[in-house]
Amino acid sequence: MSQISIFVGSVYGGAEDLAFTLADALKSKNNQAEVFLPGTVNDVKNATHLLFVTSTTGAGDIPAELEALYLELKSQFPLLTDIPYGIITLGDSSYDDTFCGAGKKINVLLQALQAKAYIENLEIDACEDFEPEKPALVWLNSFIKAL
Ligand SMILES: Cc1cc2nc3c(=O)[nH]c(=O)nc-3n(C[C@H](O)[C@H](O)[C@H](O)COP(=O)(O)O)c2cc1C
Repeated sequence: MSQISIFVGSVYGGAEDLAFTLADALKSKNNQAEVFLPGTVNDVKNATHLLFVTSTTGAGDIPAELEALYLELKSQFPLLTDIPYGIITLGDSSYDDTFCGAGKKINVLLQALQAKAYIENLEIDACEDFEPEKPALVWLNSFIKAL
């Protein structure tokens, strides 16, 4: 059983809905899950397993509330050595170069903080997947198995 802390960035609610679906799925498999909207640096520091679920806004940007947390983490720079993490990013490939840029930025930061990625992060393209929970739930199974 794992305790997963889910940190959410969403503009129109898609990533937020997805985060709660994933939390329910984790709980149904005897894991513990808590959703943070978006949470604090202390919530990140206290987590044993990190899952970021974010959409992308602007030009490859992190949604505002999660961006505030991202910037605090960047300035306080708490080392998260070997803490397992995963990132699910919602994006749209019609944005070309900035496709899923929010998750890419978070990934660079978590790597710098020495957190540990066990499996490849998931990028969900709104042009291909109209129901993001489908690929996300498949990915979640791999994430849990890898922990
Ligand atoms: C104003 C705006 C800007 C966006 N910019 C990007 C972007 O730069 N890259 C990307 O991959 N997707 C971009 N998207 C697509 C969203 O990330 C995608 O629609 C996502 O599913 C929205 O999730 P949400 O409901 O949680 O906000 C943008 C969408 C909007 C409306």
